[in-house]
Amino acid sequence: MKFFIDTANLDQIKEAEALGVLDGVTTNPSLMAKEGITGAANILNHYVAICDAVEGDVSAEVIATDFDGMIKEGEALATLHPQIVVKIPMIEDGVKALKYFAGKGIKTNCTLVFSAGQALLAAKAGATYVSPFIGRLDDVSTDGLNLIQEIRHIYDNYAFETQILAASVRHTMHVIDCAKIGADVMTGPLSSIKGLLNHPLTDIGLAKFLADYKKGN
Ligand code: G3P
Repeated sequence: MKFFIDTANLDQIKEAEALGVLDGVTTNPSLMAKEGITGAANILNHYVAICDAVEGDVSAEVIATDFDGMIKEGEALATLHPQIVVKIPMIEDGVKALKYFAGKGIKTNCTLVFSAGQALLAAKAGATYVSPFIGRLDDVSTDGLNLIQEIRHIYDNYAFETQILAASVRHTMHVIDCAKIGADVMTGPLSSIKGLLNHPLTDIGLAKFLADYKKGN
């Protein structure tokens, strides 16, 4: 299972990278705005800074919602850095854009996916990644993990190569449940990754080992 961090915060990206378990980064316009990164030039520079800080794929989202605009923007994003994956919304022109980029060998991440039907379309169009937003489904009393299960089932039926990128992950149990189901990737905040470290018995056990060592030395 790949671990992506879902943030535009460079310090958090570097902290996750330093842990040695990071496989990539996802961003979106809201995450950029949260870090105070505004204006096209600043946003593009920030994508390059993120790519320079990590080794894996870095999703960069188009703002255009029409086919021509998405192609123009996506091609510009793809030339920024070899690690860039063009993030395309799950809308009609987005599906056409996914197909276009697949033909050009440009990696894509189909975002804002909330149903198995949308995920099927994204795979048919040749998306590299599909991003079902599990936390946002949970927010509206719909089981986000159930969607991951449905997509896994459908993709396995037909050996689709599109990778399931569980997005809108909020906490460690989302990560563990996605791993059990077989999501290819999860993207979440730093807390959802570092939280996996924690267990009180580890802390108690370590304190005891160290105390016992000191008794004999
Ligand atoms: O990866 C998608 C993500 O950025 C959305 O997360 O927590 O805003 O639902 P959230």
